[in-house]
Amino acid sequence: MKRILVTGSVGQIGSELTIYLRERYGNDNVVAGGRKTEPSKELRDSGPFEIVDCTDLEAVRKVTEKYQIDTIYHLAALLSAVAEGNPQLAWNVNINGLINVLEVAREYNCAVFTPSSIGAFGLTTPLDNTPQDTIQRPGTMYGVTKVSGELLCDYYHQKYGVDTRGVRYPGIISYVTPPGGGTTDYAVEIFYEAIKNKRYTCFLKKGTKLDMMYMPDALKAAVDLMEADASKLKHRNAFNVTAMSFAPEGIEAEVKKIIPEFTMDYDVDPLRQGIAESWPNYMDDSAAKEEWGWEPKYDLQEMSRDMIEKLRIKLKS
Ligand code: SER
Repeated sequence: MKRILVTGSVGQIGSELTIYLRERYGNDNVVAGGRKTEPSKELRDSGPFEIVDCTDLEAVRKVTEKYQIDTIYHLAALLSAVAEGNPQLAWNVNINGLINVLEVAREYNCAVFTPSSIGAFGLTTPLDNTPQDTIQRPGTMYGVTKVSGELLCDYYHQKYGVDTRGVRYPGIISYVTPPGGGTTDYAVEIFYEAIKNKRYTCFLKKGTKLDMMYMPDALKAAVDLMEADASKLKHRNAFNVTAMSFAPEGIEAEVKKIIPEFTMDYDVDPLRQGIAESWPNYMDDSAAKEEWGWEPKYDLQEMSRDMIEKLRIKLKS
């Protein structure tokens, strides 16, 4: 039976992944670990919640032992723009946190899912149809921690046999919990603003193409990979996965189809624009397709329709 710990469970992905895992493996078998942000009522009421700071090795060990955890979905991390504001903290959380989780996994024989990101690439990477295995020289601390994390996970598998697996997520679009300071956040903000104010000021330039994915596909990717037959995996960690690729004007046009009064203008943030320009326009995710059957369900049109429908209910408008 699976006994799962989710770190970063109050974050954008964690808050939904925890519920998804609880529905799949039973509420009591999925422990939501969070640092200090209050969990939502749904998260708190549907199963165990524990304060876990992943930079504290003892804390990770204690919760793993207490619940006899066998699988850790390690989502606690700082996103790209926030990480640039405090690179030392980003290293501490993203790397020291990860190595603590890997150490505990080695000790207690746990499988580990760790997300990497489109941020693991940089300006010298081929940015069109970015290959699975290619140049990775990111120019951000977020990217440095993501590449290091990919390597660490490979290392713990090769050296200690820890069952580490992971994907390179693109920007994740969702309506439950907002993202916490990433470069791709505009693709979430646009929906909130379109519904509330019928207008949005975008912090990325026209023409800045990035890979994106709707949350249901991101959740499915994590669980499908963790349940995949290990003998079929050649890469294990850091699989490119994507569901759509668009620039700001592409999503603007899609929102306008549903909310015709919507308008968008631009006020470019140089930090996030620079980061976005160093990330892929679109990735080649054929390794994920071949090795564990990755197939996204939502394209730009389907995602936009569902986001607006769900957010209208959430925002009651
Ligand atoms: N969504 C993330 C960010 O923008 C990318 O992994 O930081």
